[in-house]
Amino acid sequence: MQDFTVLPELPADVFTAPLKKPAHLGDDWVEPVQTDYTLEDHAIWDDLFARQMKVLPGRAASAFMAGLEKLDLGRGGVPEFGKLSEELGALTGWSVVPVPMLIPDHVFFWHLANRRFPAGNFIRTRETFEYIQEPDVFHDVFGHVPMLTDPVFADYMQEYGRAGWKAMRYNRLKALGALYWYTVEFGLIEEAPGDIRAYGAGILSGPTEVVYATSADSPNRIMLNVDRVMRTDYVISDLQPTYFVIESFADLYRQTVERDFDRLYRSLAPGFTYANSAVIDVDYVLNRGTQEYLLRGGRGSMAKPV
Ligand SMILES: [Fe+2]
Repeated sequence: MQDFTVLPELPADVFTAPLKKPAHLGDDWVEPVQTDYTLEDHAIWDDLFARQMKVLPGRAASAFMAGLEKLDLGRGGVPEFGKLSEELGALTGWSVVPVPMLIPDHVFFWHLANRRFPAGNFIRTRETFEYIQEPDVFHDVFGHVPMLTDPVFADYMQEYGRAGWKAMRYNRLKALGALYWYTVEFGLIEEAPGDIRAYGAGILSGPTEVVYATSADSPNRIMLNVDRVMRTDYVISDLQPTYFVIESFADLYRQTVERDFDRLYRSLAPGFTYANSAVIDVDYVLNRGTQEYLLRGGRGSMAKPV
């Protein structure tokens, strides 16, 4: 197994997005200190927190709600990463490190493999309060960090980081990216028969998709199958046409860790096989979506997320 104690050398033939590293950062891309937030920044955090708490109870996964409470993320203002890391560290051995927006894939995977979650430093403004595409500190900390208090999910995230290095060697980052997208960002869990909750950070950090993902008629809800998900395209700028549902975090962990990724990567086509709204014959479908939202034009149209 690869040694991740220091950042491994990236093989020369591996393509990574050409991101320009700010001069003051080292190879780990970690900011030496967390941003000094203004009073307005802290107020924005508090308002975002209050907004989410109106829609999350009964719709967010129990593990997520428990994580919010354990870390007391509603204590007021943007959490201080040092203190947060101490508390999270005592629970599952994870820490949270500040980074400037997006970082290269191989560095991101390396942090995860070492149980460090890289979180965006900046917070959105009032102008972008409703929707931002780049992950800010609210998305990263409120959306992702509570799930890292769950021991099984915490292990899954570390395995994902290790799997990232393997995917790069096979040039299959897009496929692995789809798995991240449909689990860590937009995953649903069936906690009891018919009781569908969200655990994905992309869903939980915004007000609209929480309701849409768990109860609207438009989207498909399909039981997660790792091979199928890694062949499925995804949209990054609108509500999802399809969500994948797990029965437990233990099942997600098992499906991922027990899978022979070498074999899978060798058999995958370079592009995606399935459109993001497709339902295929091997699917175990919980809800076959009407796709009404998408058919009416999606984001930017007057379509309601029904
Ligand atoms: Fe995210």
